[in-house]
Amino acid sequence: MYAITDYQSFFIEYLKKQSITKEPQNLYMPIDYILHLGGKRMRPVLTLMAAEIFDVSYVEALPAAMAVEVFHNFSLVHDDIMDAAPLRRGQVTVHEKWDLNTGILSGDAMLILAYQYFEQYEPVIFRDLAKLFSKTALEVCEGQQLDVDFEVRDDVTIPEYLQMIQYKTAVLVAAALKMGAIVADTTKENADLIYEFGLNLGLAFQLQDDYLDAFGDPETFGKQVGGDIIENKKTYLYLKAMQFSSESQKVQLKGFFGVQLDNSEEKIEAVKEIFNESGASKMTQEAIEVYTLKAFETLKKMTIAEEKKAILVTFGKNLMKRKV
Ligand code: IPE
Ligand code: IPE
Ligand code: MG
Ligand code: MG
Ligand code: MG
Repeated sequence: MYAITDYQSFFIEYLKKQSITKEPQNLYMPIDYILHLGGKRMRPVLTLMAAEIFDVSYVEALPAAMAVEVFHNFSLVHDDIMDAAPLRRGQVTVHEKWDLNTGILSGDAMLILAYQYFEQYEPVIFRDLAKLFSKTALEVCEGQQLDVDFEVRDDVTIPEYLQMIQYKTAVLVAAALKMGAIVADTTKENADLIYEFGLNLGLAFQLQDDYLDAFGDPETFGKQVGGDIIENKKTYLYLKAMQFSSESQKVQLKGFFGVQLDNSEEKIEAVKEIFNESGASKMTQEAIEVYTLKAFETLKKMTIAEEKKAILVTFGKNLMKRKV
C-alpha cells in the first residue's frame, strides 16, 4: 500500500486527465470549476485505499473513486443553494458565480456523469456499484431534506440529528469505502465491515464539520464561518446547548434560532458564547472522538493485515486534527 497523500496525488492526476468542458460551456464550465476547486478528496482516497486493502490495485478503483467525488461535488453545488452559502473551498459558490439555474442544471448533469463512470466496469461489478450508489444517493437526499426540515423545528432530538447526519453525510463516506471493496471483489463480511467503519467515521466527520462551521478560522476554513447559525441549523452544538445552558440562555438561543436576520454578526457571537459556556463545544468534540473510536473498534473485527488497519487508523486520526 501507499501513503494517504500518495492516493490523493493518484486521484488528482486522474481527475486532471478527465476532459470535462465541452459545449454548451454554461453547463460544463461550472462542473469543471467545482471539480478543480480543490477540497480534501477524502472520499475518492477512501475508495482507492479500500481497493488496495482488499488486494487490488488502486488503478482499478479510479473510475469508482471519480464517481464518488463527482457525486459529492454535485451534492455540494445543490447544498450551497439550499444553505444560501456564498463560499466553498475559499472561492465563490457556483450559484453565486453563475446563477441559480446554472447551479441546478450543472448539478443535475454531475449526478449523471457520476453514474457514467461505473460503465467502465464489467456487468457484475457495475450492477453492485450502481445498486449501492443509488441507495446511497437517495439516502443523501433524505438526509438533506431532514436537515432543511429541522431548520424550522424547535423540537429536534439528538437521535433525529444523528439519523439526519448519517443520511446526509456518513452513508457516502461508508459507500466510498464499500465501492473499493466491491471493485476488489472481496467477501460480503469485509465489504459490510468497511461500510460500518465508514459510517462511524462519517458521523464523526459531520460532527466536526458542524464544530468547524462555528469555530473554524475564517482565514483558512474556506466556508462562511457561522453559516449554520445564520441558517438556524439544528446541529449537535445547538442541541447540546439547548440541553445544558441556563434557562435564560435557552430562551435566548430559541429566540435566535426562530428568526432569519439580515445581519447576523451579533447572533453568531452570542450563540458561539452559549455553545462554549454550556459545554456544548466540549461535548461535540467528545462525540467526534467517540464515533472515531467506534469506527476503530470495527476494524478489530476485520481479517486484514495489521498494517492495513493502521493506515485506516491514521486516516481517522488525521481527520480529527483537521481545520478544514
Ligand atoms: C463537505 O465535505 C460536506 C460535508 C459532508 C460535510 P468535505 O469537507 O469533504 O468537502 P471538501 O470536498 O473537502 O471540500
Ligand atoms: C453537507 O452538509 C451534506 C451534503 C452536502 C450532502 P453541510 O451543509 O453541513 O455541508 P457544508 O458545511 O456546506 O460543506
Ligand atoms: Mg452546507
Ligand atoms: Mg447543508
Ligand atoms: Mg457544514
